[in-house]
Amino acid sequence: MSQQHRDLIERDRKVTFHASTHLRDFAHGDAPGRVITGGKGIHIVDKDGREFIDGFAGLYCVNIGYGRTEVAEAIYQQALELSYYHTYVGHSNEPQIALSEKIIELAGPGMSKVYYGLGGSDANETQLKLVRYYNNVLGRPQKKKVISRQRGYHGSGLATGSLTGLKAFHDQFDLPLAGILHTEAPYYYHRAAEQEGMSEREFSHFCAQKLEAMILAEGPDTVAAFIGEPVLGTGGIVPPPEGYWEAIQAVLAKYDVLLIADEVVCGFGRIGADFGSHFYGIKPDLITVAKGLTSAYQPLSGVIVGDRVWRVLEQGTGEYGPIGHGWTYSGHALGCAAALANLAIIEREGLTANAAETGAYLQSRMQAAFGEHPIVGNVRGVGMLAALEFAIDPARRTHFDAVHKVGARIAAAALDENLIARAMPQGDILGFAPPLVATRAEVDEIVARAERAVNKVTDELVREGVVKATMAVS
Ligand SMILES: Cc1ncc(COP(=O)(O)O)c(C=O)c1O
Repeated sequence: MSQQHRDLIERDRKVTFHASTHLRDFAHGDAPGRVITGGKGIHIVDKDGREFIDGFAGLYCVNIGYGRTEVAEAIYQQALELSYYHTYVGHSNEPQIALSEKIIELAGPGMSKVYYGLGGSDANETQLKLVRYYNNVLGRPQKKKVISRQRGYHGSGLATGSLTGLKAFHDQFDLPLAGILHTEAPYYYHRAAEQEGMSEREFSHFCAQKLEAMILAEGPDTVAAFIGEPVLGTGGIVPPPEGYWEAIQAVLAKYDVLLIADEVVCGFGRIGADFGSHFYGIKPDLITVAKGLTSAYQPLSGVIVGDRVWRVLEQGTGEYGPIGHGWTYSGHALGCAAALANLAIIEREGLTANAAETGAYLQSRMQAAFGEHPIVGNVRGVGMLAALEFAIDPARRTHFDAVHKVGARIAAAALDENLIARAMPQGDILGFAPPLVATRAEVDEIVARAERAVNKVTDELVREGVVKATMAVS
């Protein structure tokens, strides 16, 4: 690493607090840093000019790839005209209007209005407020609880971190807040011994039964909403088992529980459809979008409100006056301009179709490379989302002891190969979510680098006596 790069990191250590980072180690120089300076296509470049394949598209958000000057140009042109004016009390800007039209068109029948924020967490915060408002207007003040899933990820604020069903986001923060519950994750590979013999479909029914039992135990008149990602994301990149959404939606309909589809990762093409909801036949009342909306060229998120909820919101302001909700930067003109340029690229270049086609290729290459690998228990994914889950005994689905940090070590080995893949936060899971512009040749390169990284760590584990010598791969 160059002196210049080291100096920058030193300055950073003194003054910046980083997300998901060992704060003490980073501040004291015991955890690595890196300064990213540029990117093109699926590659990013650091301060030393070292080039990496970004196999996770930032945080599964840079869907159109890096360095798209059309988006920079759109932001610049908008900034010349108007960077910002608030959108309170009916004020608007032209990109916001055009963007809302586009989002409603893409979201499909039954969707009515869009409200903007800056990131997925604040959008889900809006969702929680709308759910409360909805039931208050309907005269059901006791119907307020929200059910999320274990391993769901919906943000890291107080309320949205409560929706998130991951231990690290709760411990030491006194979360989850009251009124937020977590039901069974749709994680077939992790099914317990009692569910061992179940088919995927049976497991989906088991998840739906667990949800129904929770609603009944809490009292249906106290449960307002259910939130879920079409594909479980940060909790492990887990596509739902067969029949899952159909079974879940039947329960929600029975007890008049609103469905919030958190499309922050799936929205705008990632799994080969405009929305994950379209892919899985989900009919949400409310949809959360962010990430792929702008491919992260500007921070922007949205809450898409369906007709059913919208009618009640209108009724509510009829009774109580203007809604008491708003962010200073809602509908920011630069974010909306970036989103329009981004969605135009996705459409023009057929990136959603590419996510389906090249995504299917990614899935098949992953299966071919890792399906029989001695330390890989599960290869899974859909579209341009994929994961490898490591196991000490794949036949029995037995996890490694956390002390071996297998997932993190493999991610580090991948980095040595100049490949960024993400060690998912709970379990030994390596996630992949390349930009949707990735080609087959680039997928081949991602898989080849990942294979070298997994094999390197496998051989280390053999040498350390963690796994049997027969598992050596070289
Ligand atoms: C499904 C989902 N919802 C919400 C969020 C929170 O978004 P943000 O980090 O922009 O607040 C994320 C972030 O990864 C996410 O994956």
